[in-house]
Amino acid sequence: MRRLMYYMTRHPLSLAGTTLTTASATLILIMAGMQLIGTEGSPYIGILAYLILPALFVLGLILIPIGARRANLARRNKSGKPRMPVLDFNRSSTQRTLAVVLLLTMVNVIILALATYKGVEVMDSTEFCGTACHSVMAPEYTTYIDSPHARVACVECHIGSGAGWYAKSKLSGAWQVVSTTFDLYPRPIPTPVHNLRPARETCEECHWPTKFHGDKLDVRTRFASDEANTETKTVLVLRVGGVDGEEAHGIHWHVDPRIQVRYRSDPSRETIYEVELTDEDGAVTTFEPGEPAPETADEPLEWRVMDCVDCHNRPTHIYGQPATEIDDAIAEGRLDRALPYLKREGVRILRASYDSHEAARAGIREELVSFYRDQQPETWGAHETSVLQAADVLGEIWTTNVFPTMNVTWNTYPNHIGHEVSDGCFRCHDEEHESASGAVISQDCFGCHALLAMEEEEPEILAMIAAE
Ligand code: HEC
Ligand code: HEC
Ligand code: HEC
Ligand code: HEC
Ligand code: HEC
Repeated sequence: MRRLMYYMTRHPLSLAGTTLTTASATLILIMAGMQLIGTEGSPYIGILAYLILPALFVLGLILIPIGARRANLARRNKSGKPRMPVLDFNRSSTQRTLAVVLLLTMVNVIILALATYKGVEVMDSTEFCGTACHSVMAPEYTTYIDSPHARVACVECHIGSGAGWYAKSKLSGAWQVVSTTFDLYPRPIPTPVHNLRPARETCEECHWPTKFHGDKLDVRTRFASDEANTETKTVLVLRVGGVDGEEAHGIHWHVDPRIQVRYRSDPSRETIYEVELTDEDGAVTTFEPGEPAPETADEPLEWRVMDCVDCHNRPTHIYGQPATEIDDAIAEGRLDRALPYLKREGVRILRASYDSHEAARAGIREELVSFYRDQQPETWGAHETSVLQAADVLGEIWTTNVFPTMNVTWNTYPNHIGHEVSDGCFRCHDEEHESASGAVISQDCFGCHALLAMEEEEPEILAMIAAE
């Protein structure tokens, strides 16, 4: 026993190792204890307790034998004794030392197992993914907490169940921790995510193709850029479709498991070249693009099987557009429609760029106030609080969609669901992708939706529905 103590302390390195190991083990146990009795910590406590301290713990364990060996070498050089310590198992002191070493090893293994288990749990938590990396994940986290999937953990979509993907993503997760710490990540974080787990194994755990059917009536409220911010309605019937028994139709026809659509694109997936359709009988049709793919050796084009994410690339990290964000805010009563030209001015002001969220809030307030004060003095006199409130709401819209520290601005992350802001569906449905027999991928408006009203003040169709 005394010999063990001697080994653990006689070289400065061993001494440092012993101190490090003991101290970090004590801290890990205290923090685990605190969590057990329910003291809620921030994700930083979790990172410290289960990621950083265990690393120090292992470092200490490594230092002890290194120090001991150095000390041994030094002693041997002096006395000419054998290089390795002679272990005589007949000696009771050796037996005791061995027992203590075994016992300590077991304790160490338990502490490390606990720390590893908890460490994985911490890394899987949404708080860790979303906030530990702070400014890096701010755009993704901010858009996520306000989305239909706010209750779905990051790992449900980014990792999903299954050991293979789990190990893979943990490795890339470890790399992300390192690159965040040392500021190596790209700004903005690139999209698409090329190694995202196939949607069949994530999205389809909760939504499956046979679950959608029929059409969906979609009424969108818009406000014009005139003085009155005139309210209009756009009415669409989206042919959501899906798989109904033997038949698949409408928009979700693409995810019928009996067929497959594959395409080749540039790495951003914004420009789609060949599209290949394999139908239920196995017959293959290739639609060649209007412009052939550039063949460059250093940027190989990827073939990809189309899945949910090719249309729903923004199911949760949903970035708005100035116009539609203002429409929503007026419709919900957060912005006062009585303020003349609010829509027009709001869109103009939101498009300006600022270096930080603080600068944006201040600059937006300044711009809006000076517009009403200088050009609409009556409104300014009568509705000053409304104008100031509107400035705050515009500031909120800007800061939840634009992130200067990450170089994320309007439309950095295009949404592929429609065709208004990015090409979306029209990346393929452009009437230019053509098969050998001359068929094209259709741009017939009616195939995807019936457009019953387009920015109309009083759409007849809504009056008809209301009258029924
Ligand atoms: C409902 C599923 C879902 C959830 C939950 C989710 N993501 Fe995503 N995430 C996606 C999809 C889909 C993409 C875009 C994939 C593509 O286009 O290749 C994406 C992309 C990203 C990107 C790349 C940048 C971008 O916007 O394209 C990051 C970083 C990211 N997610 C982080 C997170 C974090 C952090 C969380 C938890 C706070 C989270 N995600 C939760 C589905 C999800
Ligand atoms: C853990 C379960 C879960 C997973 C995984 C999941 N979703 Fe969802 N999703 C939901 C729930 C629950 C809702 C309904 C939310 C609501 O009604 O507010 C929803 C809503 C939606 C909607 C409708 C949104 C809207 O505006 O009404 C779409 C589209 C969608 N999910 C697509 C996806 C895609 C694409 C993926 C994979 C990248 C995915 N989901 C993964 C549970 C999930
Ligand atoms: C070809 C593009 C495309 C593909 C592929 C696709 N979707 Fe959709 N999906 C849409 C469109 C378009 C809508 C209607 C959007 C809207 O309501 O604004 C929609 C609507 C939905 C909705 C809401 C349904 C409703 O009735 O409100 C869910 C949930 C959904 N999709 C999930 C999925 C899942 C899961 C997959 C993969 C199995 C998938 N989608 C594949 C384009 C697609
Ligand atoms: C990667 C290319 C691609 C993209 C992106 C794409 N489609 Fe398609 N879509 C196809 C192909 C290929 C067909 C089959 C064309 C044919 O058979 O003539 C098709 C067919 C359709 C059909 C007809 C389905 C049926 O009942 O036969 C609809 C509806 C449709 N797409 C809607 C959409 C919508 C909505 C989007 C965007 C949200 C979209 N598509 C995006 C490739 C694509
Ligand atoms: C390949 C399918 C497809 C075709 C073809 C198509 N659209 Fe659309 N369109 C969509 C989808 C999907 C949406 C809904 C997107 C969303 O959820 O925001 C949409 C939305 C719209 C909107 C509403 C925009 C808004 O939010 O105010 C208008 C207007 C529109 N389409 C017009 C047209 C017209 C006109 C044509 C014919 C030239 C056409 N579309 C052809 C898929 C299609």
